[in-house]
Amino acid sequence: MTINEKAINDVTINEKTVNDMTVNDMTINDMTIIDKGKSTVGETSENEESVILAVEAIGKVKERNRLFELANKRVRTIKINTFGCQMNENDSEKIMGAAREMGFVEYCDIDAGEMKPDLIVLNSCCVRENAENKLLGYLGIYKKVKELSNESIVAVCGCMMQESGVIKEIKKRYKFVDIIFGTHNIHEFPALLERTYEYRSFKQAQGNRGGKQTYKSRGGKQAHESQGDKQVHESQNGKQEHENQGGKQTHEKQGGKQAYESQGGRQTYESQGGKQTHESQNGKQISVWKDSGLIEEGLPIQRSGFPSALVSIMYGCDNYCSYCIVPYVRGRERSREPEDILREVNGLAADGYKEIMLLGQNVNSYGKSEDDFPGLLSEISKIEGIKRIRFMTSHPKDLSDKLICAIRDLPPVCEHIHLPVQSGSSEILKRMNRHYSKEDYLRLIERIRVEIPGVAITTDIIVGFPGETEEDFAETLDVVKTVGFDMAFTFIYSKRENTPAANYEQTASIDTIKDRFSRLVELQNNISMEKNMGYIGREIEVLCEGVSKSNPKRLTGRSRGGKLTHFDGGTDCIGEILTVKIDNAQPFCLEGRLISVEDP
Ligand code: 5AD
Ligand code: SF4
Repeated sequence: MTINEKAINDVTINEKTVNDMTVNDMTINDMTIIDKGKSTVGETSENEESVILAVEAIGKVKERNRLFELANKRVRTIKINTFGCQMNENDSEKIMGAAREMGFVEYCDIDAGEMKPDLIVLNSCCVRENAENKLLGYLGIYKKVKELSNESIVAVCGCMMQESGVIKEIKKRYKFVDIIFGTHNIHEFPALLERTYEYRSFKQAQGNRGGKQTYKSRGGKQAHESQGDKQVHESQNGKQEHENQGGKQTHEKQGGKQAYESQGGRQTYESQGGKQTHESQNGKQISVWKDSGLIEEGLPIQRSGFPSALVSIMYGCDNYCSYCIVPYVRGRERSREPEDILREVNGLAADGYKEIMLLGQNVNSYGKSEDDFPGLLSEISKIEGIKRIRFMTSHPKDLSDKLICAIRDLPPVCEHIHLPVQSGSSEILKRMNRHYSKEDYLRLIERIRVEIPGVAITTDIIVGFPGETEEDFAETLDVVKTVGFDMAFTFIYSKRENTPAANYEQTASIDTIKDRFSRLVELQNNISMEKNMGYIGREIEVLCEGVSKSNPKRLTGRSRGGKLTHFDGGTDCIGEILTVKIDNAQPFCLEGRLISVEDP
C-alpha cells in the first residue's frame, strides 16, 4: 500500500490509548501524507512513517492536554527560543505547528508575569561559538524555571545537538533537560513529548499505588505492566517490543532497521545505517539522527510572520567551506520536489501571504541542474497573490546567468541578492574552499549590475580566518569598497571543532582581529549610510509587515531591495503593498511617509 497525497483528515486514530485514556476519531487538519517514492520500509515510505508517527503522538498529547485543561481550567503553554538562521526559524515554525495541533498555546511572558511555560523548546545554532554560549545562558535561566515548577518540560533541539559531545555535556550539566532531538527528526518531537508525559504519569501512578501497577489498553493494542521496578511494554502491531526489567532493556523494531539494548541503565543503540542515537534514561528522551536524507513533508506548521513566509526548498549543504560546521550538522544537500514547494506556496497565497522567502544553504544548486532554481522561480511567479519572491543564500560559485535573467525578467522576484563573499583575498578564499577568486566575485557582481539595474547586494564577511594577514584583510576592504554592498553581515572567525580550518594555524592576535573587525564595520556602515541617503526623496514600494518594535506608533516593512523602512500609518496597512516616500536615512533603515496603498 502506498498513500498518495492522502489528507490526514482522512486518517482517524481509533481507540488509541493514552495510559488509561481512549482517544476516538482524532483528526489532524492541514496535513498530507505524500508518497515520494523515496526509500521505503516495507510498503511505507520513510516520510509516511514519520508523518504517521507524528500524527499518532500528536493525537495522544492532544488528549492529555484536553484532560489537563478540564482539570486545571487552563491550557498548557509553550515557549520556543530560536537561535541562528532563518532555517532554524522555519524549523521552529514546524515545532510550533505540531505544538498547536497538540493543544498548546504560545506562552506570553508579559501576561504571565513569571517565566513558567509548561513546555520550553530551545532550538540551537552552532555556526559560531557565541550562538552556543547563548543557548547555554538560556539553559541557565530555564534551570531556575524548573526550580520554580518542575512540571515544565524542557526540550533542546537544533544544530548543536548534532555535534559530538554536546549531548553528553547537556546530560551532565543540565540534568533538568527532558527531551533532546536533532535537525533530522523534528517529526519525532511529539512522540518524544508523549513518552515524557507517559513516563511522568507512570511515575505518578507508581507513587500513588505503592509501586505496583498493571496497565492494559482497551483496544487490545498495547500492554504495559509494572511491578516494583519491572516493566514490560508491548505494542501488538508487531513493530515494537520494549522490555525493561530491573534496568535491563531490549528494544527491537521490526523491518530490520533498529536494534537497541540497555543493561543496568546504560544503553547502547545501533541503527543499521549508523543513523541514529536514541536513549531513554530516567524518563529523559534523547533521539538524534545522523544524516537520514529524509525530507519531511506534510507536518503541520505555525507561521511566525505575515505577510511574508519562510519556505525551505532544500536542506543540508555539500560545499564544505573549511570553516563551516553546517554540512556536518545539517547533512548532505537534498532538494524538495517542486510539486511539494508549489503546493505549500499555493496554500500560502490562499491564506493571503504576499511574500515568500525561499530558504536553502545554497539555493543556486537546488534540484539536479542549474535550470532547476530559475525554473522554480518561474513556476512560483505564476501563483496569483504572491507579489514578492526572495531567496537566500546564493553561493557565488553557482550563481548562473539563467538565474540573473530570472531575477531580471520575473516581476515578483525581488531585485536583491545575498551573495556571501566571506573574504576579499583569493588566497584566503582558496583555503576557505570557496571555489572562486576575488576577481571572479567582482566579475559576477558586474554581470549582475549590468543585467539588474538598481539591484541590492548584501553579503557575509568573516574576519580573522586562520592565516589572514594585513594584506589579505586589505583585499577584503577593497572588495567592500569596490562592490558597495547595501549591507554586510560581519563575523569574527569562530573555530569549529572537526572542520578543516580548526587545524589551520591562527597567526593574528585577537586584538588584531578585533581591530580589523571594527575597521570593516566602520567602512561598511559608511557605505550603507551613503547608499541609504540615495533613497531620500524617492518613492519606493514597501510591503508592510507590522508595527515597529522600537516605536509602536509607527509601521515597519521592507523595500524590494530588503531595506527595513519605518513610516506612519494605520494598522490597516499591515499586509499591504504600499508606496512610501523616503524622508530620512540611517545605516540600517529608511524612514518615510505613506503615499498610497496598492489596490489589493
Ligand atoms: N566563523 C565565523 N563565521 C562563520 N560563518 C559560518 N561559519 C563561521 C565560522 N566558523 C558565517 C559565514 C556564513 C554565515 C551564515 O556565517 O559568513 O555565510
Ligand atoms: Fe557553510 Fe559554505 Fe555550506 Fe554556506 S555554503 S552552509 S558557509 S559550508
